[in-house]
Amino acid sequence: MTEVEITADGPSKGEFRDVMGRFASGVTVITTTLDGEDLGAAASAVSSLSDEPPSLLICLNVTSTTAQAIVKTGTFAVNVLAEDSAPIAQRFASKAPDKFQTIAVERGQTGVPLIAGCIAHFECVVDETVRGGTHLVFLARVVRVSSKPGNPLAYFRGSFGRMETAPDAAALHAVRDYVVGAVTDEAQPLDAEAIAAELDIEVGRAYQSLVALTTEGLVRRTGATFQVEPVPDQVIFDYYAAKLAIEIGAAAQTVGAVGPDQLAELRTLLEATLEFSVDGQFSDPEGWIRANSAFHEYLVGLAGSVILTETYKGLRLPAMEQRSIRESTRATAALHDDHRAIVEGYEKGDVELVLRTLTAHAKRPQETRAEAAATASAAVS
Ligand SMILES: Cc1cc2nc3c(=O)[nH]c(=O)nc-3n(C[C@H](O)[C@H](O)[C@H](O)COP(=O)(O)O)c2cc1C
Repeated sequence: MTEVEITADGPSKGEFRDVMGRFASGVTVITTTLDGEDLGAAASAVSSLSDEPPSLLICLNVTSTTAQAIVKTGTFAVNVLAEDSAPIAQRFASKAPDKFQTIAVERGQTGVPLIAGCIAHFECVVDETVRGGTHLVFLARVVRVSSKPGNPLAYFRGSFGRMETAPDAAALHAVRDYVVGAVTDEAQPLDAEAIAAELDIEVGRAYQSLVALTTEGLVRRTGATFQVEPVPDQVIFDYYAAKLAIEIGAAAQTVGAVGPDQLAELRTLLEATLEFSVDGQFSDPEGWIRANSAFHEYLVGLAGSVILTETYKGLRLPAMEQRSIRESTRATAALHDDHRAIVEGYEKGDVELVLRTLTAHAKRPQETRAEAAATASAAVS
């Protein structure tokens, strides 16, 4: 090994702690039980050691009563705290004699207390104890583990916080579709495990995606419970803005350049959209959504780009509309007039007419919502 000459003075205790505090960690409670008494200490000095055999290490100050008990029992559990558990961390960072009062626990295989609500538990048997400065390092074999979905409590520069990993893009996409297209009871909690099973993704990814969707306003979170929010108007308008951008691009390239067979098909699809509404309301929202999306997708498909068509389908407009269009939703005559004008524009090769109509058409949801809000407030006053 190369000899290193240490010339400068090392950091002071304060400097070391300050700089070390920039290494973000999770927070655990190390628990053990000695002669029928449960003991526990908050600890962040926990590290994986080896996976063959599964083992980890923890570092506890020699003055810790929990450490002194572990020396005698040779067993402990690492309880990985969930993000809402800062009060538990604070309690176990104290020297209070009754730390377990009000804390729900189960018993592990070796009798150690396992704190309820944690995202992970490791039950350990000490293999070796090493003294390092002020601390005892317990190297231990892991004899049993358990985990559940959830985010960890984080610790950084002396403060507790949240640690949220970026959700996998594909999982987020799938969960967003599920949430937006979930026409079921909005009061029903969204269960990460059930969603994961349905979408064939990992539970953790489903959970992370639900967390991410709360910031999009699609999901509401109360403690550990997620519920679907009505699709916010802004999200709906955002979808239609993206839809319009694609359709305008496709129309600018194709009006005046499509053959008679394609024009005939476009007219057939237009006619199929002229049903599904009675007296200004959607009589069959699902039928309308299907026919309308077939018409619009065909229009985009005329550009002949598979990538553009897939991008358009990737917006999953039908799923969003299933949540936002109800039988009570206003179905204005303008929707049908727009479709007719779009097809006329294609038939005449009038690109201006098509672009103008597509733009007006994309604003219809905004108009009908504004109208509905005005009617509702008139009814109240
Ligand atoms: C976030 C956090 C992390 C901590 N990590 C450790 C640690 O890794 N090792 C340690 O000895 N003490 C750690 N402590 C301090 C102990 O929890 C504290 O000294 C506790 O009072 C020990 O309790 P006991 O004497 O009942 O065992 C930590 C405290 C906090 C708040």
